[in-house]
Amino acid sequence: MEQPRTEPVTLDTPRLVLRAPQESDIDAVFAACQDPEIQRWTVVPSPYRRADAEYFVRDLAIEGWRTGANRIWCVFERESGALVGSQGLVLRDHDPRCAEVGWWAVKEFRGRGYTVEAARAVSHYGLRELGLRRLEWQAYVGNEGSRAVAERVGYRFEGTLRSYAEQRGVFHDAWVSSLLATDLD
Ligand SMILES: CC(C)(COP(=O)(O)OP(=O)(O)OC[C@H]1O[C@@H](n2cnc3c(N)ncnc32)[C@H](O)[C@@H]1OP(=O)(O)O)[C@@H](O)C(=O)NCCC(=O)NCCS
Repeated sequence: MEQPRTEPVTLDTPRLVLRAPQESDIDAVFAACQDPEIQRWTVVPSPYRRADAEYFVRDLAIEGWRTGANRIWCVFERESGALVGSQGLVLRDHDPRCAEVGWWAVKEFRGRGYTVEAARAVSHYGLRELGLRRLEWQAYVGNEGSRAVAERVGYRFEGTLRSYAEQRGVFHDAWVSSLLATDLD
């Protein structure tokens, strides 16, 4: 049977442009992911090699958009064109109207509200355009920065799941929050 296909979608916010990763982003993604904080709090490989950035752009994002199961955006500052972060929306296997959001910000561009702005655009796209019912945010316990972003966007804290989120073979306790389509009404 023919697999469903989705086309990459670009999202615009006042200060940012979110678009699917391209070949020309590999160097900037590679540089950004050298940051120990991104390696500490996300599932990116550690150490992070150039081949990992190539895989992210050429395989993960292409396949993710093709199937629609893992929509990945690179986030750019509109004025300068600089890469400032990444956003992702991964559909849940057991519940296709539920997805997990994820993000990181380029170190030099943190603290400007860019991640909140980008995460809000992705969340509203998921709930309004894709018709999802529930978006879920998860972070390893202690990731106050990411929790602050989720709260600013409107995610409601649900609790702590013990030994829940896998990172390179190790399971961490995880914080979970959610944003429902009905929260936007
Ligand atoms: C978490 C992260 C994405 C925040 O990015 P950012 O671009 O600095 O976020 P914003 O500028 O949009 O900040 C939004 C709010 O979070 C707050 N915040 C950011 N980092 C914080 C921290 N470490 N502790 C507490 N609050 C923090 C900001 O003060 C801001 O609040 P305000 O609106 O009251 O000013 C960034 O630090 C990062 O990439 N960390 C490593 C990767 C990561 O943790 N990804 C998430 C995995 S779940």
